[in-house]
This record gives sequence, C-alpha cells and structure tokens, in this order.
Amino acid sequence: TKMKLVLLCLGLALICAHTEGTHDVVTSNFDPSKYSGEWYSILLASDHKEKIEENGSMRVFVDYIHALQNSSLSFKFHIIINGECTEIVFVCDKTEEDGVYSVEYDGHNTFRVLETDYDDYIILHLINENNGDTFQLMELYGRTPDVTSELKHEFVKLCQKYGIVKENILDLTTVDRCIQSRDGGES
Ligand SMILES: *[C@@H]1O[C@H](CO)[C@@H](O)[C@H](O)[C@H]1NC(C)=O
Ligand SMILES: *[C@@H]1O[C@H](CO)[C@@H](O)[C@H](O)[C@H]1NC(C)=O
Repeated sequence: TKMKLVLLCLGLALICAHTEGTHDVVTSNFDPSKYSGEWYSILLASDHKEKIEENGSMRVFVDYIHALQNSSLSFKFHIIINGECTEIVFVCDKTEEDGVYSVEYDGHNTFRVLETDYDDYIILHLINENNGDTFQLMELYGRTPDVTSELKHEFVKLCQKYGIVKENILDLTTVDRCIQSRDGGES
C-alpha cells in the first residue's frame, strides 16, 4: 500500500506539473474563435525589407482580431501615415484552404496561422502578390506588449526556415507602435 500511495502522489504531481506548464502550442486544427481579442505586434519580418521599414505599407501594428460569425477575421491595426497613428480595419475572408485567409491591400494577400497557443502568442505567415511581384511577411503577435526572448528566438528560427534572414526581422517593441492610440477595447 505504501508503494501505491507513492505512485498516486507521483501521478498527481505529474498532472499538476502538466497543467501548470506552458500552454499547448497548436499548429493545425485551429479554433479561430480563440484568435479574438487584443494583440500587440512584437516582431515583423519580410524578405522585402522596405515594406516593413518606416513608411512601408506593411509596417502595421495590430490592436485586435475579431473572429466574425461568417468565419471571416476582422483585424484592427494602426499605421503611421505622415507621422500620425492612423487606424485601419481589414476584413480577411476565409479561403477554401483550411486556416488560410485572404485580403486585398497593396495587392492580393493570403496568410495562414503557423502556430499559436491562443493565450500568449500567434505567428502569421503572409504572401503578397502584386502585378507579378511577390514577397513574404511574417508576424509575431503577443497578448502583452512584449514576449519572452525564447519565443522571439523561436520566431527568428522559423523566419530563417522560410528564407527570411535575421537582418530583415524588426523588433517592434523598441519603436513607436502607436500603443498610445489604442482604445484598449475589444469593441
Ligand atoms: C463577413 O462579414 C463581414 C462583416 O459583416 C463582411 O465585411 C465580409 O465581407 C463577410 N465575408 C464574407 C465572405 O461574406
Ligand atoms: C516617412 O514619412 C515621413 C512623413 O511623410 C517623412 O518625414 C520621413 O522622412 C519618412 N521616412 C523615411 C524613412 O522615408
């Protein structure tokens, strides 16, 4: 019986350790409703760097994502136009491919969620096509204004897997992300 008790304790300890550990990372079979809520742009990467540099069309800072009834996703961003934080909202429609969305902006964009744990971060991969030109964009969003350096490091590795070099990855936590212009709401 002493042995049984020891095993029981060990079992309970393992259950506790598991639930207290890091949130489960999802890379497929996503639950889009869980994308909803506030996000902050943390890292932004592109193989077309001028798109994400100052005044680049893709230098956008996320406020929130809303999963809509019709399976489209609404994104609210801020972008700096003529030095001013300006709101932009996009409705991105679901495509036939699971987890892939499309939106018209500076050309035709299709993006997919690469991975998320819903509670801390989400990583998106976007392809832009415009008059035969194409570039990639990768984004790391956090639920809070910054994330762990481990997570940032993972993102850098993922970018490299997609052929985006380290020099083309911007840490937006050190620049003006229009945080002062957020309404802090999810409405
Ligand atoms: C889904 O609803 C939004 C908001 O009403 C709308 O803008 C969007 O076009 C709709 N998407 C589709 C595919 O009907
Ligand atoms: C971005 O635009 C602003 C205002 O139009 C301008 O003053 C600034 O020099 C531009 N920055 C770059 C890097 O082009």
